Amino acid sequence: MTFEKKFDEFVDEINENLDKLVVEKDNLQKDIYTAMRYSLLAGGKRIRPVILLACAEILDIDKDTVMPFACAIEMIHTYSLIHDDLPALDNDKLRRGRNTCHIEFSEALAILAGDALLNKAFEVMSKKAIDMEHPTRGLRMLHQVSVMSGTEGMIGGQIIDIQSEGKEVSKEVLETMYKGKTGCLLKAPVLVALEAANCMEDENAEILINYVETIGVAFQIKDDILDSIGDEKTLGKNTGRDVEKNKTTFVTIYGLEYCEELLEELTHKAIGYAEKLGEKGKFLKELAVYLLKREN
Ligand code: IPE
Ligand code: IPE
Ligand code: MG
Ligand code: MG
Ligand code: MG
Repeated sequence: MTFEKKFDEFVDEINENLDKLVVEKDNLQKDIYTAMRYSLLAGGKRIRPVILLACAEILDIDKDTVMPFACAIEMIHTYSLIHDDLPALDNDKLRRGRNTCHIEFSEALAILAGDALLNKAFEVMSKKAIDMEHPTRGLRMLHQVSVMSGTEGMIGGQIIDIQSEGKEVSKEVLETMYKGKTGCLLKAPVLVALEAANCMEDENAEILINYVETIGVAFQIKDDILDSIGDEKTLGKNTGRDVEKNKTTFVTIYGLEYCEELLEELTHKAIGYAEKLGEKGKFLKELAVYLLKREN
């Protein structure tokens, strides 16, 4: 099967599951469900859940075991985007090709929809853990997602991001920011898969973690490049925002040319890790190339 076909199949399954997990309700809380679904089902790339399904295949884990976690990570990612777009943070108006949540509804509703998606994610993961044959294993999977989303993870990166606005920061700080705000939610799926397979100590674990940590920083550098030279329509976000907002990024500090080179270098490194997995690493190898070339 081609990479594109496999990727699309994963995405279809993820979308079907997300659609079932957050349903419209015709009750007094109706508006929150509408706002959650508006942002969640707006057609993101679904990279994080795709990484989880791909790792599950590599590690021979049943898809049903990891699917709730894959969906939960996508919910947490979507909540992070809703809040990231708020006027108090990046103040953006376009996301996934449509109005950002606060523009479409209101700031109050966007804050609550983000909160609700975060809570829903934990509801979905804990329910799955309770139902698992080894609930402790489920709990360990949930724990990894909690850490990766929190103050030493995604939130940790976001706080460095907003505090770095308008400042020249060291490469070390910049890397810590990227590992946190973007790297950690990409790493969460790998850690979940490794816990599900109970193989955190195996050689494969080290390879997969090295792979995804490399991809994580590369992903944000590509995001910055696209903010600078991407096409708004294809990207589904407004461009030029990092300069407008006086953001501190690899592109604003080191320039486009250096970032393009760094991106190539990191992709090459990630491919090297995927190759260590032999035939099993084929999808991840192609994923690294797709992420290098992506236009949205
Ligand atoms: C955007 O993430 C925010 C970053 C962490 C760079 P994605 O590029 O994965 O956004 P969607 O999910 O496809 O919309
Ligand atoms: C994304 O960084 C970080 C998040 C955790 C949401 P950006 O602020 O650069 O992401 P975009 O460009 O708005 O998608
Ligand atoms: Mg931001
Ligand atoms: Mg932003
Ligand atoms: Mg960006």
